[in-house]
Amino acid sequence: MMTTISKAAGAAALLLSWYDRHHRDLPWRISPVMAARGMHPDPYHIWLSEVMLQQTTVQAVKAYFEKFRRLWPTVADLAVADTEEVMKAWAGLGYYARARNLKKCAEAVARDHGGRFPETEEGLKALPGIGDYTAAAVAAIAFNRQSAVLDGNVERVISRLHAIETPLPAAKPQMRMLVAEMTPQDRPGDFAQGMMDLGATICTPKRPACALCPLNDHCLALKTADPETFPRKAAKKDKPLRVGAAFVAVDQSGAVYLRKRAETGLLGGMTEVPGTAWTSRVDGDNSIEAKPFPAQWHACGAISHVFTHFELRLSVHSATVARSAQMIGSGENGWWEPAETLGAQALPTVMKKAIAQAIPHAFKDGAEPKRQVRKTAT
Ligand code: ADE
Repeated sequence: MMTTISKAAGAAALLLSWYDRHHRDLPWRISPVMAARGMHPDPYHIWLSEVMLQQTTVQAVKAYFEKFRRLWPTVADLAVADTEEVMKAWAGLGYYARARNLKKCAEAVARDHGGRFPETEEGLKALPGIGDYTAAAVAAIAFNRQSAVLDGNVERVISRLHAIETPLPAAKPQMRMLVAEMTPQDRPGDFAQGMMDLGATICTPKRPACALCPLNDHCLALKTADPETFPRKAAKKDKPLRVGAAFVAVDQSGAVYLRKRAETGLLGGMTEVPGTAWTSRVDGDNSIEAKPFPAQWHACGAISHVFTHFELRLSVHSATVARSAQMIGSGENGWWEPAETLGAQALPTVMKKAIAQAIPHAFKDGAEPKRQVRKTAT
């Protein structure tokens, strides 16, 4: 009878040979053939892609990754980049604290480590914005360290493989232990990426393609239950609702009046149109009465946006305003942004939605607020 360890090693070997044939070609990766020749991917690329992949899908990340690589080819370039430019390049990915930490992390690598990322999980975790997941992923993929990498895809694969009944998030320590047991010494990076690819392409949340799975012989969920029902999840709580108002002022040339949010807090330092605070009081002041400055405001509907901890509904109001008008009130300290350059501003998705509600063609030249499959949003 096989021991648990040799079973895990057998499953890992099957996964690796599947990865050799079916891995996804992604711009930050090197192929398993290259890895077998002792090559390593650029740690900067792996770190950058992993931070972005915590926000959205592989498909959506590709374009962001290429943009960052073009603008800042090395971690040293990112370290000296203008923070505002980094925020602009990040706009649309959400959770802007990550973009801020990205810059801080690049600065720390350049300043304290001579531009080279530390190779161990501990060393990586000491850097700004690098948590358990990113440290393990970068250590395994960029430096071939035997780290257990557990993201959403891997959680699904491992929960099915072992038919884990404990719901998430309580099951995470058990899952991490099982992934650690399965992670091979010789190809931990390919193994981590193979588990992710398997989760993304075969062991999918709905209708997994079990007949094609290299691990189907090992899969307890397939033998005993319905794999699709794993991982078990604790019941979800409804998100609280917050409401507010956004005011889109447009001048005769089509320029939009923008201002900068406070540096700290949600969407800190990002660009916005003037508006009210976002409050959980549904009787809160989100009407035209909350206007930032006097103008012929008219209501043009509402938008909603789901953040990590709450859902936001914004009523949107617009007005045509002369440049010479006095912006007295909460709309001071702003600027007029020409229509042509609106898409290049560090506007979070919620603000792009509000502007598009008032000016339907505002982002028509490819800068439209895209519907992204988001992992988290704040
Ligand atoms: N999701 C998160 N990290 C990933 C990676 N390195 N490859 C594919 N999907 C991922």
